[in-house]
Amino acid sequence: MHDTNVTTLLESRLHAKALELLRKLGELADERGVGAYVVGGVVRDLVLDVGAGFDLDVVVEERGEEFAETAAARLGGSVKAHTRFGTAILVVPGGGKVDVATARSEVYERPGALPVVTPGPIARDLERRDFTINSMAVTINAGDFGRLLDFHGGHADLTKRGILRVLSERSFEDDPTRILRGVRFAARFGFGFEPETERLLRQAVAEDRLSTVSGERIANEIVLILGEPEPWPPVERLATWGILDAIVAGWAVPPEVEATFAEVARLADHVSDDEPGRRAEGETWRVRFLAMLEPSDRGVRNAVLDRLNAGRRMRTLALELARFEDETREIISADVRLQDSTLHRSLSGFSRELLGFCRARWRGTRVAERIGRYVNELAGTATSLTGGDLESLGIPQGPAVGKVLAKLLEARLDGSIGSREDEIELATRLARELDEGNKS
Ligand code: CTP
Repeated sequence: MHDTNVTTLLESRLHAKALELLRKLGELADERGVGAYVVGGVVRDLVLDVGAGFDLDVVVEERGEEFAETAAARLGGSVKAHTRFGTAILVVPGGGKVDVATARSEVYERPGALPVVTPGPIARDLERRDFTINSMAVTINAGDFGRLLDFHGGHADLTKRGILRVLSERSFEDDPTRILRGVRFAARFGFGFEPETERLLRQAVAEDRLSTVSGERIANEIVLILGEPEPWPPVERLATWGILDAIVAGWAVPPEVEATFAEVARLADHVSDDEPGRRAEGETWRVRFLAMLEPSDRGVRNAVLDRLNAGRRMRTLALELARFEDETREIISADVRLQDSTLHRSLSGFSRELLGFCRARWRGTRVAERIGRYVNELAGTATSLTGGDLESLGIPQGPAVGKVLAKLLEARLDGSIGSREDEIELATRLARELDEGNKS
């Protein structure tokens, strides 16, 4: 496999600008006498022919920061951030960014090595990676452009065997987030685990290796899983392989949640948060996360939120769910005629995300039907008069304005008034009543 040249693949599947940039970086690498490579997920996606994006991971056999600074100076870009030692983000004009990392080698350092791309430091770098399918690299040096380096059989695992295989038996110990990454990749590509890899993964779970990982890192992996186009299969595996339980004892996601996930996807347009300009899919991970929490009792829910160091919005959503369960669900599931104003009053204090979740969770019931009515028909209802209009009708600033507006909205929702004139008439009457009430 070592001599496969994938230049044609690069040319046909990479964005033209990305390709041009890689060639320029390759020329620079030649001048500096170092090896340079595209690595990791981009190579995997390229071989698999799934939309390789514009964001590239490049490894150089020298200090990544220095290489990136030189490239930025030459190409007119900038180096945005040094994420960790030896790594820099090169941002180039016309969009696109490249992560430039130092080939990490514990064995030997060869400053000023010749630009011959032979198994050397890059090989050391690649053998530290998570799975064979992520351990391939492609040379970008001008004299050797497009050569696929595949020291671990990643190409065959990816294109023939369809498996996830670790490179070393210590892989999950070295970085337990790979447990979650493995589950995500297996589901995304419809791959199985190579038997020894599965054994090592399950062993790492049983040995509680995840307990050493920070909440942020675990949360980050879960968010990535929930952002997959088909998030249920990996979530189901997290549950059935005891991975959730290893994260927080007692955290379980039963099989019924699958149907909630499906309904969330179906309703995706309606469950976006209420901030304009955000796309629904981008935020549905919170709704799905809520679906993973809801079957648990409050103690486990809170333990999960604490363990994952959940942010304010996720916590607010969990609180909203508790409030819905405690105060609202009974009202809106009652088998009685419900005034639209009552429905509005019951649901207007909840976020779109919470309502989206509840609608999916209680699909096919009166609860979902009424939430649907609220979201589609009532939530946008507004009075035509404003607070300012009421003041010009003689209603003094203060709580009276709010009271009258609420009454107007209620009357509008229940259909007893329809036009602006109706509102003026009702407001005037209400103002008079308030006034008389104050006098008496
Ligand atoms: N990697 C690793 N172990 C990790 C994380 C990352 O070995 N815990 C390596 C892999 O070689 C991986 C590369 O770093 O391909 C880049 O990681 P990342 O950008 O997180 O993921 P991708 O593999 O690019 O996949 P995707 O962005 O599609 O999730």
